[in-house]
Amino acid sequence: MNVLLLGAGGREHAFAWKIVQSKQLKNLYIAPGNPGTALLGENVNIKINDFEEIKNFCSVKKIDMIIVGPEEPLVNGISDFFMNNGNLKNIAVIGASKTGALLEGSKDFAKEFMKKNNIPTAQYKTFTLAAINAGFEFLETLNPPYVLKADGLAAGKGVVICENINDAKTTLSEMLNGKFGAASQKVVIEEFLNGIEVSMFVLTDGISYKLLPEAKDYKRIGDGDKGANTGGMGAVSPVCFVDDNFKQKVCEQIIEPTIAGLNAKKINYQGFIFLGLMNCGGEPYVIEYNVRMGDPETEVVFPRLDADLLDLFDGVATKTLNCKKCETHAQSAVTVVCASGGYPDLYKKGIEISGIENADESIIFQAGTTVCDGKLQTSGGRVLAVTSLADTIENALQKSYSSIAKINFRDMYFRKDIGQDILNYKK
Ligand code: AMP
Ligand code: GLY
Repeated sequence: MNVLLLGAGGREHAFAWKIVQSKQLKNLYIAPGNPGTALLGENVNIKINDFEEIKNFCSVKKIDMIIVGPEEPLVNGISDFFMNNGNLKNIAVIGASKTGALLEGSKDFAKEFMKKNNIPTAQYKTFTLAAINAGFEFLETLNPPYVLKADGLAAGKGVVICENINDAKTTLSEMLNGKFGAASQKVVIEEFLNGIEVSMFVLTDGISYKLLPEAKDYKRIGDGDKGANTGGMGAVSPVCFVDDNFKQKVCEQIIEPTIAGLNAKKINYQGFIFLGLMNCGGEPYVIEYNVRMGDPETEVVFPRLDADLLDLFDGVATKTLNCKKCETHAQSAVTVVCASGGYPDLYKKGIEISGIENADESIIFQAGTTVCDGKLQTSGGRVLAVTSLADTIENALQKSYSSIAKINFRDMYFRKDIGQDILNYKK
């Protein structure tokens, strides 16, 4: 199979790492990729939302399958572009259709979908500027803290949690008046859920599905979950409270109604569903849907996945996923993100990275890196995701932290407490 992978982050490096282990792979191209993916396939300089250019590349290189890493091309309709074009139908796109991608692209759509399909989620209402007074009244009926969400994609920043009613009202007004541009023309206000978060991942061909290993992600910049939200500073898998009982609840109460709900709406969906869940006293609630894999969760999920990824994707494309083998390794996986000092606010780029080659106990997934004059340099906030596998989470953490001690770039920052909440978790 000739494969084109879209994206450039640590997640895509992990995809490429898993894809090259597939017996079905002939050639792997990554657009635009990064220096990590360049070690595994050929990076090509194509923009991920330039569908015409992607189409031309696919015909020149006889691409059989396009795998979409980030959500944006899906929200922009890349699956439909290939599906609806007679000459391109034989190129499989692994990723939701444009309407399916609304599960991530519109919080209001996702909430209405969950309500209609009786999927457990926080109570909510959606407001526009014209109905701002009704929004203030709704806030008065809730207890603090208050959760306000921009309806559309806002680069991961569209959720604001306010501790008191006055802040909540001011924030609602700011959001409806364009704080997040068009993304906050509608605002979802919802009940605050108390619990512990977990990310679960589903691959579906639209009929059947496979549940992939779960992961816990560490979103805040500081130890002890303090400070600003980031894209994710680390992840661990497995997550101790995700036992068979919890998984069964997620399958029966969330995944199966989600797939049935998509079918009822005649929404074509062949790709990943990422469930951001809150475990509230043993009951799973959906906080959000994403239509892609998580980053850095992928960097722990794929190393634990005992399956040929392209074989699974072939099952997705041909709607035969139920015949495919998909197991999970018993080993634990952790990843610790090494970020640029200052991230998620201002940070410097172009700082030389050394020592990766010495960190051979771990898998170093590259995220914000570039090569300049033959030297590896930083080019983003999250620079590396240092993944390790071991018999326990503790041992995997030890490996990742000892690898990080061998890596160096000026102002490198990483959290020291990845996985600690899971190690201390009491049922
Ligand atoms: P989202 O972008 O929807 O994942 O929200 C960002 C973060 O806000 C989540 O990872 C949660 O930590 C938090 N959050 C979102 N919705 C809720 C909720 N209803 N109750 C409590 N926390 C929430
Ligand atoms: N790590 C969370 C995400 O990918 O959205």
